[in-house]
Amino acid sequence: MATRFFGGAFFSCQSGILPSKTIYKIRGKVDVDHAITEEQSRAYGELLMGHSVMLLGPAGTGKSEFIRHVRKTMPGRMAVLAPTGMAAMNAGLGAVTIHSLFSIPPVNGGYFDVESFTIRRRTAKILKGIDYLVVDEISMVRPDLFDLMESMARRARGKEVFFGGICLLLVGDFHQLPPVIRSEERDLFAAHYGSGNAYLFDAKCLRGRCLSVVQLSKIFRQSSEKFLAILGCVGGGRITEEILRELNGRVLGGATAPKGALTVTPYRESAEQKNHRELEALPGVAREYVGEKTGTFQSANGDDLPSPEVLSLKEGASVIFTCNASNGEWVNGTGATVLRLGQRRIDVAIRRGGSAISISPHEWSHIIPDGDGYEITGTYRQIPLRLGYALTVHKIQGKTCDAIVLQRDRSFFAHGQLYVALSRATSLDAVYLTDPIRASDVKIDRRVIEFYENLSADGPILFPVLPRDE
Ligand SMILES: Nc1ncnc2c1ncn2[C@@H]1O[C@H](COP(=O)(O)OP(=O)(O)OP(=O)(O)O)[C@@H](O)[C@H]1O
Ligand SMILES: [Mg+2]
Repeated sequence: MATRFFGGAFFSCQSGILPSKTIYKIRGKVDVDHAITEEQSRAYGELLMGHSVMLLGPAGTGKSEFIRHVRKTMPGRMAVLAPTGMAAMNAGLGAVTIHSLFSIPPVNGGYFDVESFTIRRRTAKILKGIDYLVVDEISMVRPDLFDLMESMARRARGKEVFFGGICLLLVGDFHQLPPVIRSEERDLFAAHYGSGNAYLFDAKCLRGRCLSVVQLSKIFRQSSEKFLAILGCVGGGRITEEILRELNGRVLGGATAPKGALTVTPYRESAEQKNHRELEALPGVAREYVGEKTGTFQSANGDDLPSPEVLSLKEGASVIFTCNASNGEWVNGTGATVLRLGQRRIDVAIRRGGSAISISPHEWSHIIPDGDGYEITGTYRQIPLRLGYALTVHKIQGKTCDAIVLQRDRSFFAHGQLYVALSRATSLDAVYLTDPIRASDVKIDRRVIEFYENLSADGPILFPVLPRDE
């Protein structure tokens, strides 16, 4: 059986915002540079036997790389998904967001009535046609969303078994960022999943199920023993005076970070301010591109529009793409530099590879369920770019960065946030801090510690049936 990948003209990390055009297939040539390790080959063997696998391991152990290897070599039809657009981009060409492939519109307050949720024809067709469903960055996947995916897969395939019999590869690290659950949603999650801080491993569809767990341990992204030890402690929620001293030795003080270093901050407004300042500092006059909305185009999950409504750019500005090109030339998150600003078109040079391309406005659609199908409630048209000097930690999970400037601002406030930020860098020398880190920036959720305590070595994990599920 030939390997086939289902990809989509996916546009942003927003849920419920779907391509205007129908999904298309990418017969992918996915280049993998490394031989797989013994640990990774165990996961591969489980998948070959048709067992669903949860592949865990710290940042930089080659989890996403393994996905690209599986896509290239595993016989069978496969869809590769991730919770955010940036994470999907990182999982490789043709990977799309969960919301995009499942055609799940945004819902305020969570997906709790999963069995009555309508399945779009296009989604049903894809779900019926695949043998494997791969999800990267599972730490960010909410259990209600995972339960909804399971229900839709089962119903679409007309088979009353877990995910309708699709073999799963669930990949991630629960020490990294947790799912976004807003404060007003926490009571609902506590009622449905037993905790306001709910994770994919709380999903009801996992109760009583057995998955093969493979934990990768060899870290490839970093090689320095010292930096690995620091990352191990920060990831595990442990901090010492010595680690603080080491990290705070990287505070910039009066020095400037190397050109091209990416600023990473917990706060979206801080990222926007930094982007704005960098644009101001460039010579020349800024040109503004105003997005056009029709109907109701509602942003989801508190995210902004896929591209800013007023996109202000100058020649020489550093930008990132906010959609995937239909020909695969760029994806959401690809970095570029602006070469020329036209009235309706912008020429940019893609940073890696360096090819110059001309970009025109892009159209996103917003959909809601409507009886058996979905209704397009509105569209948004804008140049698919945003400034790329600074990003939030949420947006960089999964990436490897050359040099980063951590801008702490008020604090790193979420479980795993500082760990994700630090572990993007390949060495401590490539990390710069605007302000000293404090012990309180290292946060870990007790529920994650407990989850790992209950996992022994590799082998099957049985998710227990809880009294509240019966
Ligand atoms: N088998 C391998 N041999 C050598 N290098 C590898 C191997 N697998 C991955 N790498 C390299 O290690 C780095 C991290 O890989 P990758 O992004 O897949 O890790 P990850 O486990 O997905 O990390 P994260 O949890 O941050 O998403 C990449 O630069 C990748 O090229
Ligand atoms: Mg990864």
